[in-house]
Amino acid sequence: MRRKVIAGNWKMHMLPNEAINFIQEIVPLIKDTKNEVILCVPYTDLFYVLLNVQETNIKVGAQNVHWEENGAYTGEISPKMLKSIGVEYVIIGHSERRQYFNETDETVNKKVKSALNYGLKPIICVGETLEQRENGETKKIITTQTRLALEGIEKEKMKDIIIAYEPIWAIGTGKTATVEDANESIKAIRKEIEEIYDSNISNEVIIQYGGSVKSTNAKELFTASDIDGGLVGGASLKPEEFAKIINYEN
Ligand code: 13P
Repeated sequence: MRRKVIAGNWKMHMLPNEAINFIQEIVPLIKDTKNEVILCVPYTDLFYVLLNVQETNIKVGAQNVHWEENGAYTGEISPKMLKSIGVEYVIIGHSERRQYFNETDETVNKKVKSALNYGLKPIICVGETLEQRENGETKKIITTQTRLALEGIEKEKMKDIIIAYEPIWAIGTGKTATVEDANESIKAIRKEIEEIYDSNISNEVIIQYGGSVKSTNAKELFTASDIDGGLVGGASLKPEEFAKIINYEN
């Protein structure tokens, strides 16, 4: 059985002192969970968060990474830099980066390859716009994004990759995909991965749902056959609310 992975994406929120308070509040609330918990935090919080999650069940991720090891790339952070301070995961290809910062399927693929080479575990985001959904293109868009992100990745590396299906129209809008829709889209991504690799890989790969996940909808989403947890934005900023999502079985 696949594990459940619940990741918070803090986006551009939380100062270091707020991050430390958050961790102190959430640690006792989630100490008994069997689910994997990841916090993807701003670069400026990484070091503080890493120091404060030691001896807890919280893992730490960044929200972006460059593909080069180092060089004249003002303002960028390399996979080697993230790895050197103990970061384990990195979100790659979030729709906000595709939309506002020129992230393309090609740069996503370069970043995924480089992250893996430096021992980071990518959380690759895919998802359709409202217009694409209304035009009946959802499946085509998300399977193409998946295929292009994984181009040239050996199957042995797939155990270190998480895919997050995030329909763009559901992000930060309060609109959640229905469980059936989210599950069907995730099944389509799983099928694409089966075509690229094989059914062992597709049955094992973790695929999360993201887009207005809250404590009130987490259980029905995360118990669907193909949804292996969530990538949570707004609701991951409040310790009690995020803890309820992590403890969705209770
Ligand atoms: P919300 O949970 O705020 O809709 O954000 C989802 C998201 O983009 C997580 O990466």
